[in-house]
Amino acid sequence: MKVGFLACPGTLPGTGPRRGDAFEHDLEVAALRPALAARGLELIEVDWRAPLEQFADLGCVLLGTAWDYQDRAAEFVARLDALAARGIEVCNPPDVVRWNIDKGYLAELAGRGAATVPTLWHDEVGRAEVDAALAHFDAGRVVVKRRVGAGGEGQHSFTRDALPDAGWRMGRPAMIQPFLPAILEEGEFTFVFVDGRFSHGVNKRAAAGEYRIQSIFGGHEASYDPAPADLATAEAVMAALPFADLLYARIDMVRLPGGELAVMEAELIEPYLYPEQGPQLGDRLAEALARRLTVPAA
Ligand SMILES: Nc1ncnc2c1ncn2[C@@H]1O[C@H](COP(=O)(O)OP(=O)(O)O)[C@@H](O)[C@H]1O
Ligand SMILES: [Mg+2]
Repeated sequence: MKVGFLACPGTLPGTGPRRGDAFEHDLEVAALRPALAARGLELIEVDWRAPLEQFADLGCVLLGTAWDYQDRAAEFVARLDALAARGIEVCNPPDVVRWNIDKGYLAELAGRGAATVPTLWHDEVGRAEVDAALAHFDAGRVVVKRRVGAGGEGQHSFTRDALPDAGWRMGRPAMIQPFLPAILEEGEFTFVFVDGRFSHGVNKRAAAGEYRIQSIFGGHEASYDPAPADLATAEAVMAALPFADLLYARIDMVRLPGGELAVMEAELIEPYLYPEQGPQLGDRLAEALARRLTVPAA
């Protein structure tokens, strides 16, 4: 069976200039391809916007490195629906993507008892909202991000001394959080889950002078063996998700001033899964996928 690995022009090899983090696409494909092949599954890299005919002989698609979906969210979900309607197993499924695409899901996780970062939600953010958030959180610095966003794109950080200009607008639904200083001190912690089970941990640190930990902003990663209390916090986030049975999930966490880890993102769409820090990733994912694709005997 052929398994599609959804990508985009910026991450696919051979389609023109590639993103600065396209090496992550190559690492993930290199981890997955042989592990899938060992189970009779052939990995095919494909642009998620390619003509539908190119998906005709795929039995399954992984959402892979479709890292340009955020500005075409409706088109992305429609494409996943179209693939599912053709009987292609979509991992993770369109309903999960619909739920996970807007960071408003964090409020739902908070309601279910997961530790989250305090957040103000707005349809639009300008100087007045930033000012009000600084006062509301009694914070010296806040982060403003898109509700539908990825890769730290279009994100801003403001301080009392460096407010946005009076005419500045986010231009879209956004969220405001207090800036968590732990991001600079110890970074962000990623917990990769395969088939609901913890697979490996990653500690991600920002480059000097930067607070976003993504590799595209110069961030770097190291293996991370979580303390039991920290792993339990991540597992509690998994338990708070309204879905069981996810092929993969990535829980990103940052420590609150009180010492507890809080969920920054529960990434169920197209997270990079850090095969370098989890050399078993390819095998675990291929094994779980092969199990799913096997029709149980009648
Ligand atoms: N409240 C915050 N405090 C400190 N750093 C933050 C905060 N929110 C986001 N960041 C930084 O910005 C990065 C991107 O934000 P995130 O919420 O993960 O959005 P996405 O990865 O979807 O763009 C984080 O990995 C972190 O480095
Ligand atoms: Mg993130």
